[in-house]
Amino acid sequence: MTGRYEQAKTEIRAAPRTWLVTGCAGFIGSNLLEALLRLDQRVIGLDNFATGFRHNLDEVQGTVTPGQWARFEFIEGDICDLDTCRRACSTVDHVLHQAALGSVPRSLENPIATNRANIDGFLNMLVAARDAQVRSFTYAASSSTYGDHPALPKVEDRIGKPLSPYAVTKYVNELYADVFARCYGFPTIGLRYFNVFGKRQNPGGAYAAVIPKWTAAMIRGEEVCINGDGQTSRDFTFVENAIQANLLAATAPEAARPRVYNMAVGDRNTLEQLFEAIRGALAGCGVAYGREPVYREFRPGDVRHSLADVSAARELLGYCPTHDLAAGLGAAMPWYVRNLS
Ligand SMILES: NC(=O)c1ccc[n+]([C@@H]2O[C@H](COP(=O)([O-])OP(=O)(O)OC[C@H]3O[C@@H](n4cnc5c(N)ncnc54)[C@H](O)[C@@H]3O)[C@@H](O)[C@H]2O)c1
Repeated sequence: MTGRYEQAKTEIRAAPRTWLVTGCAGFIGSNLLEALLRLDQRVIGLDNFATGFRHNLDEVQGTVTPGQWARFEFIEGDICDLDTCRRACSTVDHVLHQAALGSVPRSLENPIATNRANIDGFLNMLVAARDAQVRSFTYAASSSTYGDHPALPKVEDRIGKPLSPYAVTKYVNELYADVFARCYGFPTIGLRYFNVFGKRQNPGGAYAAVIPKWTAAMIRGEEVCINGDGQTSRDFTFVENAIQANLLAATAPEAARPRVYNMAVGDRNTLEQLFEAIRGALAGCGVAYGREPVYREFRPGDVRHSLADVSAARELLGYCPTHDLAAGLGAAMPWYVRNLS
């Protein structure tokens, strides 16, 4: 069922290209970097370590051959600097733009920093990539763009009002991408990620995402807090699905762009279900967690339910998710147990 993806990987491997992965020291970026190096691609990575880590790059180095690692060039720099973006884009075929400041609560506390990286930085990357005449530009959009629209499942062209500064920035990305297609003939693809999880997602800090945060707490025998009544639901998406979507988007036919696509599984789980799924996956790794979760207030800015309609990605990109929540947790847990025990 992953025919188009297997075909794309075969073509990519047969005719190696140069890729720019911005945010390559972060969670999704480092997973993209690893996947591309394993396909014997040349990769340029750009990151300023705002929320990413050098040890993520070191870990990727440990998973690929010395020959594959030699095809990686790292630029430590800020996407808010246009010259840095131009330098990073200059010899590139495909851009996978991941660099941004994530997290709704972070954006509520410091909207100016989020705006700067996510809008000024995004615009710099668009201009640099357009001027370098790259073959494709794929960027990380967000399910937060659905805002207060109540419909489920979420379909790409029906969005509501943003619920946070972060959501505003991700929606502005889409508006700029659309305008660059209209005004400059620079067609891009945005992937609206829905709660992506997997190895190297940071469990620490005030802005950690729910899966690494709870996983770390359970491994350490600490309290797990559920924001709200536990019925809030999300379309939790394993990072392998995000890698697939990026490679398909980069190599998609012209007819598939410009567009934004939901990037998810097309299934949703409540926070209470997630709690039990993580507990079960950890038990499968020999880690027992006997405590029950503690409930606290709903978190401002959070949407209540999230579930993606992924039929556009299936039809136009050939996307076919390989991992649901259980399979993704099963694949990710050994990494968390190894790294957090
Ligand atoms: N993880 C998710 O569930 C999710 C959901 C929706 C959208 N996204 C988007 O996906 C992308 C990647 O997210 P992630 O979860 O891997 O987060 P992450 O924080 O792990 O990675 C982001 C990377 O971008 C880098 N970065 C930030 N600002 C930068 C700047 N000004 N210049 C250069 N590098 C900079 C960080 O240092 C970090 O390495 C982001 O654009 C995020 O908004 C993620």
